[in-house]
Amino acid sequence: MKVIRSPKRIQEICMSLKKERKIIGFVPTMGYFHEGHLSLVKVAKKKSDVLVVSIFINPTQFGPKDDFKRYPKDLKRDKRLLKEIGCNFLFVPDIKNMYPEGYDTYVEVENLTRLLEGVSRPEHFKGVTTIVAKLFNIVQPDIAVFGQKDFQQAVVIKRMVKDLNFFVKIIVAPTIREKSGLALSSRNMYLSDKEKNEALVLYQSLNLAKKMIESGERDSRKIKDRMKKLIQEKPMAKVDYIAINDSETLRPLKKLKGDVLISFAVRVGKTRLIDNIKIKV
Ligand code: PAF
Repeated sequence: MKVIRSPKRIQEICMSLKKERKIIGFVPTMGYFHEGHLSLVKVAKKKSDVLVVSIFINPTQFGPKDDFKRYPKDLKRDKRLLKEIGCNFLFVPDIKNMYPEGYDTYVEVENLTRLLEGVSRPEHFKGVTTIVAKLFNIVQPDIAVFGQKDFQQAVVIKRMVKDLNFFVKIIVAPTIREKSGLALSSRNMYLSDKEKNEALVLYQSLNLAKKMIESGERDSRKIKDRMKKLIQEKPMAKVDYIAINDSETLRPLKKLKGDVLISFAVRVGKTRLIDNIKIKV
C-alpha cells in the first residue's frame, strides 16, 4: 500500500489508472477505524481493481461545539488494518493542502440538509459535500462506499452526485453492530460503561418500531411516541429527535408507506448518538 499526502500526486496516479481502464473503488474516512469502516473498505475492495482510501479529519464539517480538536487518531493502526484488507493507496492530505489560504468554494445541497441532522448541525453537510466533492475530483473513483449508519449523509451525497453530474456510483453498505445491537461509531468510545449499557435502549427502540410496523401500525406519531417513551426510561438518555421519513426524499411521513427511514439522535450523557433502520412498508 502506498501512502500519498499530496492531492496532485494521487490525482496523477488515479488519472493514469483510469487510462488503463482500472475500476477505482474509494472510501473516504476520517480514520480511527472500527469494524464499521473496515466493512466499507471490504465492500469497495470486492468491487474494484484499485482501492483508494482517504483519511482526513475535515474541519469544515465540525460545528463550534463539535469534537474536532479531540477527534481520535491512530494512523499507524489504520495503516496496518488497511494493508491487511489489500488497500492499494492511502491518501492522507494535510489541512493546508485541502484548504489552502484563500480557499473560498463550498458545495451545498440545500433542502435535504435542512432537516434531521441539519437542524442541530446547520453547517455540517456543507462541509461534508465540499470535502467529498473535492475528494471525488482528486481520486475520480468509479465507485464510492458510504455507511447506512450516516443515512442522511449518503442521501445528501447521492443528491450531489446526481445534481453535479459526478461520474461515480454510490454504494451504501449496511450498519455494523455490536452483539448487543449498538451501532459501531467512533463516538462510542466516549461512553462510560453505564452509559453504554443505557445506550442499548436505542437499538431496542428501533426493534420496537419494526415490530409495531410488522403488526400493522402505520401512524408515524404513535410509533415515535412509543420509541420516545422507551428511550426516556433510561435516565441518561435525552432524545434530540425521532423521525420517520421517506428514505429517498427524506420527506417526513405521517402515514407510513413505501421505503421508510426511522432515525433518531439521542444524547447519552454528553455523547450524541445517531442510528436508523430502513423498512419497506
Ligand atoms: O463519514 C465520514 O467519515 C465523513 O463525513 C466523510 C464522508 C469522510 C467526509 O469527511
